[in-house]
Amino acid sequence: MKYQKEIRKRRTFAIISHPDAGKTTLTEKLLLFGGAIQVAGAVKSNKIKKFATSDFMEIERQRGISVATSVMTFMYQDIFINLLDTPGHKDFAEDTYRTLTAVDSVILVIDSVNGVEAQTKRLMQVCRMRATPVIVFINKMDRDGKNRFDLLEEIEKELAIQLHPMTWPINSGKEFKGVYNLHDKNLRLFAANTKGVEEELISVENSGDKILTEKLGEKDAATLKEDIELVDTVHGELNNKEYLAANVAPVFFGSAINNFGVKEMLDTFIRIAPTPSNRETSVREINVHEEKFSGFVFKIHANLDPKHRDRIAFMRVCSGKFERNKYYHHVRLDKDIRFSNPYSFMAREKSMLEDAFPGDVVGLFDTGNFKIGDTLTEGESFFFTGIPTFSPEIFKEVVNKDPMKTKQLEKGLLQLTDEGVAQLFTQHGGNKKIIGCVGELQFEVIQYRLLHEYGASVQFNSLPFYKACWISSKDANKLNEFIRFKPGHVGVDKDGYLVYLANSEWFLNTERNNNPDIEFNFTNEVHKNSK
Ligand code: G4P
Repeated sequence: MKYQKEIRKRRTFAIISHPDAGKTTLTEKLLLFGGAIQVAGAVKSNKIKKFATSDFMEIERQRGISVATSVMTFMYQDIFINLLDTPGHKDFAEDTYRTLTAVDSVILVIDSVNGVEAQTKRLMQVCRMRATPVIVFINKMDRDGKNRFDLLEEIEKELAIQLHPMTWPINSGKEFKGVYNLHDKNLRLFAANTKGVEEELISVENSGDKILTEKLGEKDAATLKEDIELVDTVHGELNNKEYLAANVAPVFFGSAINNFGVKEMLDTFIRIAPTPSNRETSVREINVHEEKFSGFVFKIHANLDPKHRDRIAFMRVCSGKFERNKYYHHVRLDKDIRFSNPYSFMAREKSMLEDAFPGDVVGLFDTGNFKIGDTLTEGESFFFTGIPTFSPEIFKEVVNKDPMKTKQLEKGLLQLTDEGVAQLFTQHGGNKKIIGCVGELQFEVIQYRLLHEYGASVQFNSLPFYKACWISSKDANKLNEFIRFKPGHVGVDKDGYLVYLANSEWFLNTERNNNPDIEFNFTNEVHKNSK
């Protein structure tokens, strides 16, 4: 229990949302509260939806290794907050899913006008897989949004999670008057663009308090009274255990752009959000309080500047204390390495780090040693589990346009897929290389990077696959038979696992029904549990 004090101070989380719901804006407001930035507009949005690929490349190059915004560490009320950024563009969703393996909780932003959107659902699926505790922030209350009760019902139904309102809005859009804090029993009146200075809190005795009529007018005070009574009857006090078990999500209403309702959420967040906890590995559970260091790599970021071909591996500390210049065991490579200039992500700048504790993220300079999911320890051999690979959604065959550069192409493909930019499959019984991605933009990025970083010129030919399913069976004969009858539809991923490449959902369901002895999975563990 040597580092208990440090562990208790850590909160490591990510903000997730459908693009445009307000993730960047909320991030910025949180950083303002944490004193990590001084002015609004300092956080560059990492969304690239409005740009073409060439612009994206240019942005990436200018940002250099954009680690500074990948993890943001700041202090708030004596708590170390590690906020892990996730890409705003849906084509890079897999990067987001992997980042979620490194956090202890998430804040989900929902646009009050649009409600639950496609990406919200997918992200929540990933959170559910890992039972990650969720706090919901319903944003843009200054716009005419959906009816608050309908919205809550929609979120509960669509995301299959029970909600627990912590604040309650008084109207929305032009009529938005503020939020009532159900937990602390006070009222905060809405004022646009508060720039960090919020209106005073008004204490409220009970739902019938005259102060409500005085501040809100008779009609809105009456509606609020009714709402509070209804919400109180249905929800009562928040059961923290249920939140930590990811069964219940506390909900806050606000407007990120106006810095309204954000502080309420942040204050609650540091009070209830989970501290780093134990993690499963391939051989045993690692207790977060163990003295010996362990950690895993969840993201690799390449520098797109050809003059600086370095990469940064992002490692989450899971137990013990990480120290600069100490030798650690790289389990997959079975070798000991030390890091003389690890990065920390305190405030705006990346700076040299001397030590780090569970929940912290360390940036490690990498010259090609790391793959996503790699584990570092003080000597023991195990892998952290629960780092899944997801099925890509677009598949293309890689055609080498310059046979003289075959070696470079192979190296490039391996390195880019180690970074997790895309997934690489090889056709079973053949040589065809297939790249699988979540979005079209990734193919353009790969093509560009292969050419500029490895000198390999490729063309992509579309393939008619809809999903890749990892297949396995206890009956080896059944599996072999299945593979034999599906030429062209079976591939092997980079780690040697078999995948079935389905043309459509119908085909997939048919195969599933016809082959009850074969397991079809849309995700695969980077490291299987060998217990
Ligand atoms: P994202 O990272 O989730 O993609 O969303 P982002 O914060 O970039 O916000 C998307 C748009 O929504 C931005 O407008 C932002 O200003 C706006 N927004 C965020 N919070 C609120 C809010 O509480 N109320 C209202 N009315 N708007 C909000 P934009 O026009 O796309 O970009 P910009 O030109 O303002 O940067």
